[in-house]
Amino acid sequence: MNKEQISIDDIIERYPGKPEYLIFLLQDLQHAYNYISPVALALVCDHVGIPLSQAYAVATFYQSFSLEPKGEHEVRVCQGTACHLKGAPRVVEEAERKLGIKAGQTTKDLKFTLETVNCLGACALAPVAVIDEEYHPNITTRQLLKNLDKLAAE
Ligand code: FES
Repeated sequence: MNKEQISIDDIIERYPGKPEYLIFLLQDLQHAYNYISPVALALVCDHVGIPLSQAYAVATFYQSFSLEPKGEHEVRVCQGTACHLKGAPRVVEEAERKLGIKAGQTTKDLKFTLETVNCLGACALAPVAVIDEEYHPNITTRQLLKNLDKLAAE
């Protein structure tokens, strides 16, 4: 999907103005822009005829929606017990240093979002990182930094 060519209105017009289409609209907006802006949320509410508070509640309930701008690349490092014991904190520290942000933040150029998460359910492969939905088992600091370099060069 070309983000520059798709307007919020284009997305909204894909669905009938009924409350049951709220989730579909939020999914499409999230996919197109990597987050749902306050303006987009308000326009969706107007379209489907629900109060802003209701849409806000839905958008904050599901982890797949973000009301803050996210980076083009999402880097998640597990901080569950197994990963913690296998050195995940150091991996996060080095990623923070490299990107110049803290975990939970997005770089100013909107290239990367760095997050820490609880157990990803792959403890035997600890430490684990997920970069743009791709699992990286037994990740080392060096491997993570190499991946960041590769993505930054794209
Ligand atoms: S603690 Fe990291 S995958 Fe379980």
